[in-house]
Amino acid sequence: MSSKFPDHFLWGGAVAANQVEGAYQTDGKGLSTSDLQPQGIFGAITPRVDGDSGIKDVAIDFYHRYPQDIALFAEMGFKCLRISIAWTRIFPQGDEEAPNEAGLAFYDRLFDEMARYGIQPLVTLSHYEMPYGLVKQYGGWGNRKTIGFFEHYARTVFERYKHKVQHWLTFNEINMSLHAPFTGVGLAEDSSKSEIYQAIHHQLVASARAVKACHEIVPGGKIGNMLLGGILYPLSCKPEDVLETQRQNRDWLFFGDVQARGGYPAYMRRYFRENGIQVEITAEDQQALRETIDFISFSYYMSGCVTTDEAQNNTARTNILNMVPNPHLASSEWGWQIDPVGLRYLLNVLYDRYQKPLFIVENGLGAKDRVEADGSINDDYRINYLNDHLVQVAEAIDDGVEVMGYTSWGPIDLVSASKAEMSKRYGFIYVDRDDAGNGSLERRRKKSFYWYRDVIQSNGNSLKDKA
Ligand code: BG6
Repeated sequence: MSSKFPDHFLWGGAVAANQVEGAYQTDGKGLSTSDLQPQGIFGAITPRVDGDSGIKDVAIDFYHRYPQDIALFAEMGFKCLRISIAWTRIFPQGDEEAPNEAGLAFYDRLFDEMARYGIQPLVTLSHYEMPYGLVKQYGGWGNRKTIGFFEHYARTVFERYKHKVQHWLTFNEINMSLHAPFTGVGLAEDSSKSEIYQAIHHQLVASARAVKACHEIVPGGKIGNMLLGGILYPLSCKPEDVLETQRQNRDWLFFGDVQARGGYPAYMRRYFRENGIQVEITAEDQQALRETIDFISFSYYMSGCVTTDEAQNNTARTNILNMVPNPHLASSEWGWQIDPVGLRYLLNVLYDRYQKPLFIVENGLGAKDRVEADGSINDDYRINYLNDHLVQVAEAIDDGVEVMGYTSWGPIDLVSASKAEMSKRYGFIYVDRDDAGNGSLERRRKKSFYWYRDVIQSNGNSLKDKA
C-alpha cells in the first residue's frame, strides 16, 4: 500500500500512570481513586490496607524500569509516547498549595529520557484517577472547589514542563463518567443523574480552564480533549432506530460539542428537562467554556448497535458501554466487536462535526498471548487487527480528514483498566507477570514488535490492504 500518512505523522503508543507505574506510595505519592479499585473500574471500591497489594501497586514497575522501556519504544521508532501524570504524585491529597518535588522530578526524568531518543510526549492530565483526598474531603467533582484544585495542578505541571511537553490532553475518556462515576468524577456509583451531570459540568469547566492555562503558559503548546469514541450504528433502518442512535451518539458527542464548540449544545436542554436533570451553570462558567481545545483525541476499540426493540437490548455488555452486537462483526476474546471500517467512519464523523485535527490516542486488541518453547510470541491476531485499523486510518486521510497521529494502546503489556487483568495483553512487548502478580517482570519482544517497527519506518507503506 502506498503511504497516505503525512510526513510528520506521530506514530507511537499510549499508557496510563495507574496501569504501568506501580510504586503507588513511593516518593510521597498520595492515594488515588484508582488505588481504591484494585479489581479495576468495574470492581469494588475498597479502603487500602497495608500489605494488601492489588496488582496495580506494582503494575509493570514502569516507575523504576522506564529507561529500558523507552529504549524498546525507540527501537520500534516511536515518534510519540502518550503517558499520563499521576495527579497524586504532584499533589498527594489534591488540595495542597505546594507541589511534591519528588513527584515532579520523576516526570522530569521520564521526559528527559524520551527526549534522548527524540520521542515526543503526549500527556494526559487525568487518566481515570484523581486524589482520593479530594473525594473524601470535598466529594470529588461534585464540589465546585475541585475546579480550582485541578487548575492549580494543571498550571503547576504546565509551568514545570513547558519546555519539554508540547501536546497535552485534559481528561481521559471524559464521557466515561456517565458509566463509571467513581472513576470519572469521584462520585458514588448510585449517584443521581443530576449529581453526575453537575460533576461533569465542573469537570468541563476545569478542562476549559486548563486549555486557557496551557495557551498562556506553554509556548506553542497544543491541548486536546479525549473522548471514548464509542460510535453507534442503528441495528435496523427503522426510522425510530435511526433517531434513537442519533440520540445515544449525542450522549458522548455532547462532551466534544462543549469542549470544541465552547458551550452546551441545544439538544441538551431538552434532554435535561425531560429527565428532570438540574445543573447549576453560572455566567462565569459559560465564559470559561468558550476557551476551546486545539484538537480532538479519542480512543477506538469497537463500534456497537442501537435498537428500540427492548427484547434485543439486554444482549450486550462491554467494559464501558452497553452495546447491542452487530451481526456482521466478529469479537475479541473479551467480547469487544472488531470493526476497522468503523474507525474510518468515526474519523469522518468527528472531522465533519468539528473541523479540528484528530489524534487517535488509543486503539488495540486485548488478547491472551502464548510464549512458545523457544521464547517467541507469535501474535498474528494483533498484527491483523492493527493492520486493518491503520488501513482505514489511511483511507480517512485520503477522505481529507486531518489526522495528527496514532498511539496504539498498551505498546507494552500493562494492567487492564476494566478488570485489572495482566492476561488481557495489548503490547508489542511482553511483560512476564500474571493475574496473580507472579512473574519476573522481564520484557520480551513479540512478533508485532518487528511488524510495528516496519510500519513506522515505512510511514505506513508496509501495511497490507487486507491483512
Ligand atoms: C480505555 C482506557 O477505556 O480502554 C484505558 O482509556 C484502557 O485506560 C483501555 O486500558 C482498554 O480497556 P481495558 O479494560 O481492556 O484495559
